[in-house]
Amino acid sequence: MSNHVRTSTADRVASIEIHRPEKKNALTGEMYDAMSEAILRADGDIGVHVVLLHGQADCFTSGNDLTDFVAASQAQGEGVPSPASRFLGVIRTARKPVVAAVGGVAVGIGTTMLLHCELVYAAENARFQMPFVPLGLAPEGGSSLLLPMVAGYQRAAEMLLLGRPFGAEVARSAGLVNEVVSADRLLARAREAALAVAALPVESVRITKEWLKRPYAAALEERMAEEIRVFGERLHSPEAKAAMGAFFQRKRG
Ligand code: COA
Repeated sequence: MSNHVRTSTADRVASIEIHRPEKKNALTGEMYDAMSEAILRADGDIGVHVVLLHGQADCFTSGNDLTDFVAASQAQGEGVPSPASRFLGVIRTARKPVVAAVGGVAVGIGTTMLLHCELVYAAENARFQMPFVPLGLAPEGGSSLLLPMVAGYQRAAEMLLLGRPFGAEVARSAGLVNEVVSADRLLARAREAALAVAALPVESVRITKEWLKRPYAAALEERMAEEIRVFGERLHSPEAKAAMGAFFQRKRG
């Protein structure tokens, strides 16, 4: 269990709250494990119909904890820390629908995990970013395959190559987000949607989710394995080490 991931179940909805505000909800191994366990528990619980994933209205997550990436980049032969890879595998294959509520920053895996969710609600203050290339890394979370499918080739190329932040409306028009709401309504709106899905015939929901994902499931599994491998290699690249060092240097400077 992690103090930074809060879980609760009510009305057939399993809620997972990322809660590490002092570090902009940056994800540690312990947090990934807690999130994976919560999704797996929900999948195995007939009393749960839907998973609701959220942070706070002003912060979803700043992505992987860069301290862990720096440690992995310095350890010989280490790749992407395995809790992160495991979490990506769990959310990729989750059987129950996942609804996400995104407010504030959603960086790196904070954006790519959304590509695996069924319904995504964003607050007007949401700020998405996939800065893998500027960081000297490589796309992860299946984004190199899923993003062009969702957003179209040029938009995906822009988001992944330039890696710049973009807002909720851009995310909505690119197909990453279902609806944009005000920050104060974000969680209520996502919960309302989760409850609506939770009230639907379970087996029909299960079949529909499976069929929606099946056409690209094998290709996605293969690509995500390749992404994880290459990402792990890129963590050792001089560019990645310099970019991550610069982030923490900026903090000290
Ligand atoms: N890993 C580790 N620590 C992080 C972090 C991350 N991904 N994101 C933020 N933090 C920490 C900061 O170091 C800072 O800690 P400190 O107060 O001990 O110095 C604290 O969280 C607050 O972050 P700060 O940068 O001051 O907030 P901000 O509002 O100015 O900027 C972000 C927010 C998310 C834009 C910025 O923190 C950022 O770019 N983070 C890195 C995101 C990233 O590259 N993720 C990995 C992608 S692969």
